[in-house]
Amino acid sequence: MQRNTERRSTRIRTATRRRYLMCRPTYFDVTYSINVWMDPARPTSAALGQEQWKRLHDTFITLGHDVELIDPQPGLPDMVFSANGAMAVDGRALVARFRNRQRTDESAAYLDWFRAAGWSEVRQAEYINEGEGDFLFTGREILAGSGFRSDPRACREVQEFFGLPVVPLVLVDPRFYHLDTALAVLGHGEIMYYADAFSEESRAVLAERFPDAILADEADAAVFGLNAVSDGKNVILPGQATGLADQLRQRGYTPVGADLTELLKAGGSVKCCTLELRE
Ligand code: ARG
Repeated sequence: MQRNTERRSTRIRTATRRRYLMCRPTYFDVTYSINVWMDPARPTSAALGQEQWKRLHDTFITLGHDVELIDPQPGLPDMVFSANGAMAVDGRALVARFRNRQRTDESAAYLDWFRAAGWSEVRQAEYINEGEGDFLFTGREILAGSGFRSDPRACREVQEFFGLPVVPLVLVDPRFYHLDTALAVLGHGEIMYYADAFSEESRAVLAERFPDAILADEADAAVFGLNAVSDGKNVILPGQATGLADQLRQRGYTPVGADLTELLKAGGSVKCCTLELRE
């Protein structure tokens, strides 16, 4: 056990260049509440949200990644959370079908974007499917979250559309209503997650499939430390998640802290703002 830990800690991590789709939070606001983080009575600042978002955008560029942009639309304040717009693997894009009517109009924008960008296979999901909010590609399989947003029947559709195995997981804590708020893919078959966000059965599935996973404590999960983006080496995560940053460093990753506290008022952070484009 001890030796195993040592071996992991000295591992050299390599970053691979990524393409991300982001949406500037021009119209960011909290005008409705569709998750427990959102309180329309609490003031928000679109200007501060934009400043924090821009720093995240620039971090990706500095790390050598490509960032594409989709135009924000008035009346869609949650559109900044581009991770929810689709899932895109191997040139195929399955565009979201949102659970809440406040977000349904975002789907048309993503359909248009992928078609205009020339993706070969673009379709809107038939079942409620909130894109990379609930479906995370590990490189081998797709981990799928349900319980709050995406329909469990979306698993089958995702499996057929991408031709990849799907592992269904059930979320049970309303603070962690999307899979990407409770679990992050790091690369090399590694993940990190907050176990209490999952049903007992799902916890067993995760423990068995990912015995080496980094486990987050409640404090790190509560600042959305798991809402992270990894390029295989650099892991961009909320700067307040200091325990997770330490654990990542011990495993040879480079944690990069980001401040997205303004967007957290809508229940989103780093990963929510980032849709990976895998052509
Ligand atoms: N206010 C948005 C919602 O409730 C936040 C989405 C966060 N995105 C994510 N990928 N977890 O839908």
